[in-house]
Amino acid sequence: MKGVVLAGGSGTRLYPLTRITNKHLLPIYDRPMVTYAIEALVGAGVTELMLVTGGTHAGEFLRLLGNGHEYGIDRLSYAYQERAGGIAEALGLAERFVGGDRVVVMLADNVLELSIRPAVESFSRQEQGARILLSRVENPEHLRHLGVPELDGDDRVTRIVEKPAAPPSAFAVTGIYFYEGSVFEIIPSLTPSGRGELEITDVNNWFVSEGTMEYDVLDGFWGDAGESIDAYYAVNDFVRAHGANKVLG
Ligand code: G1P
Repeated sequence: MKGVVLAGGSGTRLYPLTRITNKHLLPIYDRPMVTYAIEALVGAGVTELMLVTGGTHAGEFLRLLGNGHEYGIDRLSYAYQERAGGIAEALGLAERFVGGDRVVVMLADNVLELSIRPAVESFSRQEQGARILLSRVENPEHLRHLGVPELDGDDRVTRIVEKPAAPPSAFAVTGIYFYEGSVFEIIPSLTPSGRGELEITDVNNWFVSEGTMEYDVLDGFWGDAGESIDAYYAVNDFVRAHGANKVLG
C-alpha cells in the first residue's frame, strides 16, 4: 500500500500565520505539523510516500524532509499542485506514483492520538472499494465545518455531507482515506463545489453509491489543526500533554 500526504491548500483559516509559511509547517508542540502525518503512516508500515504541496513555500518541505530516510520513509516522492484546487485534485497528482496499487491518503493537518495501524490492516483485508475513519464529535457546531456521514440502522454509510447545516450524525469523516486503484478513474469526472474545489467527499460518495465504502470509528483523540486557530491550539495542547500516534498495549 502506498501513502499520499496532502500538504497543499492556501490555509486561509490560519491567516496571517500562513502568509509566512505553509500551514503544515507550523509547529504542533515541538515539531512541524506535517511530521505527525508522516509518523502515522510510517508507524503503520506504509513507507513509500508521496507528498503533495504547492504555493510559495513548497521548497521548505524538501529542506525539512529531504529524501525521507530520517523519518523512516523508504522512498519519498514529491508533487507540486499548481493551484489550491481541492483535496481530490491534489490526490489526482499522485496517480502515476500509486500506479494501480492501493493507497492511504492523509491530510497533513490531521493529528491522532493513536496509531492507524489497525485501520491499515483492516483495509488490507478489505476486498475492494474504499474505507474512511470516523471520529465521534459531539458538538454540532464543530461538525458543520467537517464532512459528516449519515449512517443507517445496519451501520452502513448512506451518504456523506460536506459542511452540513444539519449534521446527520455525531461523527466526523477524518482526513484519512483508503482507496483501491480505481479512485483515479473517478477524479476526472468530478465538478468543483461551491468553494471551487474538487471535494474528497464527492469521491467518497461515489464509493458509498457503489456499496463498497467501509469505515472504522477511531479510538482516542483526533484533531484537524487547520480547521481554525482554536482547533490549532486544541491540537497543540493535546499533543503536548498526551503525545500522538501511540501504539496501545
Ligand atoms: C476536509 C474534508 C472534510 C473532512 C476534513 C477533515 O475538510 O473536506 O470532509 O472532515 O477535511 O480534516 P477541509 O479541511 O478541506 O475543510
